Amino acid sequence: MKKTQQLISGLSALALVAGAFLLFPSLALSDDADQALIAKANVLFKPLPASSALENTELTPLRVSLGKALFFETRVSSDGRIGCATCHNPAYHGADSLALTVGIHGKQLPRNAPTVFNTSLLISQHYGGNRATVEEQAYKAVLSPLAYGNTSNEQVETKLTQLGYMPLFKAAYPADAKPVSVENWSKAIGAFERTLLTPAPFDKFLKGDAQALSRPAKLGLEKFINTGCAGCHNGVTVGGQSYQKFGITQDYWLVTGSTPKDAFKGYDKGRFHDTKDEADAFMFKVPQLRNVAVTPPYFHDGSVATLPQAVRVMAQLQLGKQLSDEDVSHIVSFLESLTGDIPADFAKAPRLPVAPH
Ligand code: HEC
Ligand code: HEC
Repeated sequence: MKKTQQLISGLSALALVAGAFLLFPSLALSDDADQALIAKANVLFKPLPASSALENTELTPLRVSLGKALFFETRVSSDGRIGCATCHNPAYHGADSLALTVGIHGKQLPRNAPTVFNTSLLISQHYGGNRATVEEQAYKAVLSPLAYGNTSNEQVETKLTQLGYMPLFKAAYPADAKPVSVENWSKAIGAFERTLLTPAPFDKFLKGDAQALSRPAKLGLEKFINTGCAGCHNGVTVGGQSYQKFGITQDYWLVTGSTPKDAFKGYDKGRFHDTKDEADAFMFKVPQLRNVAVTPPYFHDGSVATLPQAVRVMAQLQLGKQLSDEDVSHIVSFLESLTGDIPADFAKAPRLPVAPH
């Protein structure tokens, strides 16, 4: 009798615990240390939002699909071979895998192409921050002598009309008297880019799922915070929210092996080339680290080939620290948890208009 009672109370205690785990799955999955790390991480980082639409601007399906077509369109460039997707390619997680990107007429440009994913959430666009928004970036790219090589808005608009884009612009911007415009080109491409968010295991972790990160990734996250990396790489995009000097403890090229570039008449001085202010010399926008594990090579000139090496360079140049091999490997595991899924709508090439004959 006593034994049965014990058994029953034992069983009901078990049932209670099991019930609690069902109601509060996080209890079942994590211990106190995990919860403390999640809380600490939430002070410095934020999960991706569901949308990055501008206020008062609708990301309608017609605008997004037009923007996608324009993103993949190469016939608007002056040699007919360059489109956004050439350098921001789905096969390379929105980047191009080259150290230095190649523009029209096969001309090498002085910088590495960053991924286009999540960029609508950065404080500005480009390493020097000379474009405020993704829309401004797209507006100016189509007239850039290095990227698209067009010389006037009219030239771009004529090309788009001849290529058969009129119906798509009209459908996306029905209220506009002049639907085919560089203004609408930039708005549509911006609308498409604003859909290119890549939620990753780290977002699940921030939202409370302690199992979303492996043990090495959690150790790496701790290390990333405690070493001081998160002092610059923080916020929703784990970077991309401030400008910082590259090469705090010594000139960066002594460690990265970077070479002077003709376009900059010497070593790349980052934001200085845009503002001409000496205070901005060697200031670069801190890159976002989302998808960093799948977008080598690293830094503004692709001078460092691998992620472990990039992590070592950062510790040395920015913080004056030498990391152990174990620390580097843990930090790399953490950075891998920032790799998101390629948005389905980006992975599949669009069908572009055929010029009317
Ligand atoms: C020839 C290659 C090339 C083409 C074509 C190109 N890009 Fe880029 N893109 C780059 C490079 C290189 C950078 C970095 C430039 C810099 O920082 O000075 C960049 C930067 C960007 C950024 C800023 C990313 C960040 O982290 O700051 C965005 C957004 C972007 N490109 C979108 C586009 C769009 C949209 C198009 C088409 C309208 C386009 N790009 C066409 C190479 C290219
Ligand atoms: C003082 C600010 C600062 C600190 C601290 C810092 N970084 Fe950076 N990080 C930068 C800047 C600025 C760049 C861009 C340099 C460039 O591309 O020329 C960068 C670039 C990177 C890159 C290359 C990204 C890419 O896509 O090319 C990685 C990886 C990185 N940091 C990781 C780390 C890690 C890991 C730590 C800690 C050990 C760290 N950073 C500490 C400012 C900082």
